Amino acid sequence: MSYETILVEQKGAVTLITLNRPQALNALNSQVLADLTDAFAKFDADESQRCAVLTGSEKAFAAGADIKEMSSQSFADMYGSNFFAGYDRVTATRKPWIAAVAGWALGGGCELAMMADFIIAADSAKFGQPEIKLAVTPGMGGSQRLTRAVGKAKAMEMCLTGRNMDAAEAEASGLVARVVPAADLVTEALKTAETIAGMAPLAAIAAKEMVNAAFETTLQQGVVFERRLFHGLFGSEDQKEGMAAFIEKRPGNWTGK
Ligand code: HXC
Repeated sequence: MSYETILVEQKGAVTLITLNRPQALNALNSQVLADLTDAFAKFDADESQRCAVLTGSEKAFAAGADIKEMSSQSFADMYGSNFFAGYDRVTATRKPWIAAVAGWALGGGCELAMMADFIIAADSAKFGQPEIKLAVTPGMGGSQRLTRAVGKAKAMEMCLTGRNMDAAEAEASGLVARVVPAADLVTEALKTAETIAGMAPLAAIAAKEMVNAAFETTLQQGVVFERRLFHGLFGSEDQKEGMAAFIEKRPGNWTGK
């Protein structure tokens, strides 16, 4: 499948999606959104694919929403078209996916990375919500996801001053799962994705759903939700296989049933 603004490759059971607008530091315009939503929908629907990695270039994961495209939009244009709501289709992806971030992840770029199930950062990564410098604010979930990831103090400071976080601070504050040398970023992210792709598919989707539930429910509701999904997995063939494989000291052979 070929797209205008992204590259999509299947590497075994892992889909690698690369943002590819180098002339604009991967700024997210409408075409990027159209391409990404299509690629994520196809990834989710393809039974041979189990995990995805979304990455950018060495210089920029994405330098934000496309300022040139947005600059002349009116309130009626933005509100009327529910601008950015299309990204809800990216976050609706049921299978796990990782953002592999090198260089700039600013504004919408930071927000897109935070839509991933987790972020692996290169040591060159810089995260920020600089929209305030353009007299606007985050609009793709940044004020909510950044606050949940790093807490109020840092999120508020970043959204109000537009200052960036480097990779070390992002790791220390819980924004990213791990920092790796820039040269190893995609290899490390693909290796992690392969590990996830090697797990029983229903368990992987259930694990993702229950961790996400922690952001939407009370502790008690979340614990019950987790327990019910856990109980449900005992209805799967893969649970029988996984536990038999452990007892027989062999690797599990998953059917996804
Ligand atoms: C459109 C962009 C862009 C963007 C960079 N470019 N960011 N085009 N939208 N967000 C373009 C530049 O115009 C330039 O093209 C080319 O990419 C290279 O960028 P430079 O600025 O020349 O590169 P450099 O000097 O290395 O600086 C890198 C940078 C800077 C620090 C990342 O580009 C920058 O500050 N970009 C904007 C970051 C930002 O404000 N992001 C938030 C966007 S608002 P030309 O052809 O001109 O040379 C946002 C809103 C979300 O995301 C929701 C609320 C509305």
